Amino acid sequence: MRVLLTGSSGWLGRFLAPMLRQAGHAVIGLDMAPGTDTQVLGSVADRALVERVFAEHGIEAVIHAGGLHKPDIVRYPAQNFLDVNVAGTLNLLECAKAAGHDRFVFTSTTSLMISQAIRDEGGDAAVWLDEAGGSLAPRNIYGVTKLAAEGLCRIAWAEHGLATIVLRTSRFFPEDDDTHAVPSGENLKANELLHRRLTVEDAARAHLVALEQAPAVGHGVFVISAPTPFARADCAELKREAAAVIARTFPDAAALYAARGWTLPASIGRVYDAGLAERVLGFRCETDFAAVLAALRDGAPLPFAHDPAYVSPKERGGGQGIGR
Ligand SMILES: NC(=O)c1ccc[n+]([C@@H]2O[C@H](COP(=O)([O-])OP(=O)(O)OC[C@H]3O[C@@H](n4cnc5c(N)ncnc54)[C@H](O)[C@@H]3O)[C@@H](O)[C@H]2O)c1
Repeated sequence: MRVLLTGSSGWLGRFLAPMLRQAGHAVIGLDMAPGTDTQVLGSVADRALVERVFAEHGIEAVIHAGGLHKPDIVRYPAQNFLDVNVAGTLNLLECAKAAGHDRFVFTSTTSLMISQAIRDEGGDAAVWLDEAGGSLAPRNIYGVTKLAAEGLCRIAWAEHGLATIVLRTSRFFPEDDDTHAVPSGENLKANELLHRRLTVEDAARAHLVALEQAPAVGHGVFVISAPTPFARADCAELKREAAAVIARTFPDAAALYAARGWTLPASIGRVYDAGLAERVLGFRCETDFAAVLAALRDGAPLPFAHDPAYVSPKERGGGQGIGR
């Protein structure tokens, strides 16, 4: 298919574009910033530009991964989030409907499931998070606008029969966490693979699978994260004494970590459950916490990317024209 990939210059895009081509698709990349796989420079918020791309490139399906995300909260005003994440998604959905497409994949985020209360982790048990959770109260403009865009995807299916797959991906960014400095870098990423992270390669693969499965599924919202070794029944103990739960499944984890000078999490406050994606889409991340331990055991390279110097490519151009 001729696939329009937004965010093609970004961290996810640079892994996803080659994967799509390898699967036999032609990729037309649209991004604010230049990149190897970006043919069209501009903003999804620019309706005329989006219409022109559809007309000139014979687009047959869309993977909408571009947009403003959490690190952008300190860089851009709320209006830009509305223009890019909401109006930009609407532009793409309306062009896809007008062109008679049968599928649309949207990159969303687990962040919109995190209310301030969940974030504060004040409860006495970890919070188990899947797609079935009740009413959502995203705590910032990023989550609010991603949730609105999810709604646009839902009604595109309900009102027009455009199959829309929403992937609520957990973390896959390569840079350091912007709020937690301890433990730092690779240690934190390794820990997060237990309950709230996946590799960028797995994130890209999820999009390819979603593109293939969309017409058969219709509409669906899926948490995409490395498979957690934990169960709901572990939640209280995870909050109290995470190391004990980890030790039951991975008896040598503490020693492997100690040899590297790493620390296991003392307490875990939330767990993402990606089981629905496995059951409905047939997608399961290839890299999990066990793969990290295997690498430590074998002295092999870590199975995830870590790049503290990564900055979204649009920042090199100062993000000019983002909301147009
Ligand atoms: N990185 C993560 O951990 C993470 C977690 C959950 C969800 N996501 C989502 O994954 C997607 C990709 O994120 P990423 O990590 O690759 O970030 P990134 O910043 O590296 O890439 C995003 C790309 O979108 C482009 N973009 C921004 N505004 C645009 C606009 N108006 N029009 C066209 N392109 C625009 C940027 O230039 C950039 O190249 C985003 O939708 C993000 O919300 C990311």
